[in-house]
Amino acid sequence: MYLLYTIFTSLAFFFVFKRMKRRRYCTDLTRLDGKTVLITGGNSGIGKETAIALAMRGARVVIACRDPDKAAKAVRDIKFKSHSLNVSHMELDLANLRSVREFCKNFLQTEKRLDILINNAGMPSVLDWTDDGFSMCFGVNHLGHFLLTNLLLPRLRECAPSRVLTLTCSSYKYQKLDFQDLNYNLLPFFTYCRSKLANVYFSQELARVTEGKGVTTYAVHPGFVQSGWTCHFSFLFRILMQVVMWMFFVPCEMGAQTVVYCAVSDEAAKHSGGYFVDCRPATLRPFARDSGVAKKLWEASERLVKLA
Ligand SMILES: NC(=O)c1ccc[n+]([C@@H]2O[C@H](COP(=O)([O-])OP(=O)(O)OC[C@H]3O[C@@H](n4cnc5c(N)ncnc54)[C@H](OP(=O)(O)O)[C@@H]3O)[C@@H](O)[C@H]2O)c1
Repeated sequence: MYLLYTIFTSLAFFFVFKRMKRRRYCTDLTRLDGKTVLITGGNSGIGKETAIALAMRGARVVIACRDPDKAAKAVRDIKFKSHSLNVSHMELDLANLRSVREFCKNFLQTEKRLDILINNAGMPSVLDWTDDGFSMCFGVNHLGHFLLTNLLLPRLRECAPSRVLTLTCSSYKYQKLDFQDLNYNLLPFFTYCRSKLANVYFSQELARVTEGKGVTTYAVHPGFVQSGWTCHFSFLFRILMQVVMWMFFVPCEMGAQTVVYCAVSDEAAKHSGGYFVDCRPATLRPFARDSGVAKKLWEASERLVKLA
C-alpha cells in the first residue's frame, strides 16, 4: 500500500512539474539589424536574457539600470553571450521620477532611434515607498514606466513601426484597482498584483492613444521564471523560494521567449493592446479589459507624474 502511494504521488508530482515547465519557444527568426531596443532593468533575469536574444538578432541594445556597476557587468556578459558589441547601459532609477526625466533627456540626446521599448524592470511585493512618495510596487512597476514611455513616445513615433512591451503577471487577476487608494501598500502580494493589473490597463490605453501612429503595444506575462527577484526577501524565505523556483519555474532564457516573440513577430503586431502568454495572445479577465478603467488610470497617472 505504501509503495503504491509513493508511486502515485511521485507520478502526480512528475506530471504537475512537467506541465508547469512546458513552454513554447519563439520560432520567429526576424532580424533586427539597424534597430534600437531599450530594456529597463536589463541587468538581470528576464531582461538580461531578452537583451542577449535581441542583440544576437543584430539590434543595438541599451539597458537602463539603477546600479551602474551591475549594469557594466551585465553589458560585458550580454556582449560575450550575444557576440555583439552593440550593447550599452544608461542610468535609470524608476523609483525616482526626476531620474526618469533625466534619463529620457540623455537618451533622446544620445540615441537617434528607438524601435522597441521593453518596460521590464519590476519590484515584487516590497512594502516600501519611492522617492516621490508612491508605493514602491505601483511607483516602479507602473508610474515610472508610464512617465518613461510617454516621454519617449515622440521618438517611437518617428521610428514607426515601433513597439512597446510591458511585462505584467498573470497574478493581475487577483485584485482590482481602487481609485481612492492607488497607492495601496498593505498586503505585499496584493500590492504587486495591483501594479501588474495597472501594467495591463496601461498597455491597452497606450494602444488606443497610439492607434494609427505606427506604435503597437503588448502586455506580456513571461511565465513563472527562476530570476533574481527573491533577492528582495529575507534569507529564509529566499531559500524556500529557491527550492520552489527550481522545481516549478522555468529558466530565464525560457521566460524571455514571449518577450522576444512580441518584439519581433508580425503575427503579434496584429494584436496591439493584447495580452500575451507563452508566445501567443491570451484572454484577459473581463474586468481587466474595461477601457473606461484603463482611461481613468491613464488620466490619474498623468496627474500623479505631473505630465503636462
Ligand atoms: N520572475 C517571474 O516569475 C515573473 C513572473 C511574472 C512577471 N514577471 C515580471 O518580469 C519582470 C522582470 O522580472 P525578473 O523576474 O526578471 O526579476 P529580476 O531578475 O529581479 O529583475 C528585475 C529588474 O528590475 C530592476 N529594477 C528594480 N527596481 C528598479 C528601479 N527602481 N529602477 C530601475 N530598475 C529597477 C532590477 O534592478 P536591480 O538588479 O538593480 O535590482 C532588475 O534588473 C518584472 O516586471 C516582473 O514583474 C516576473
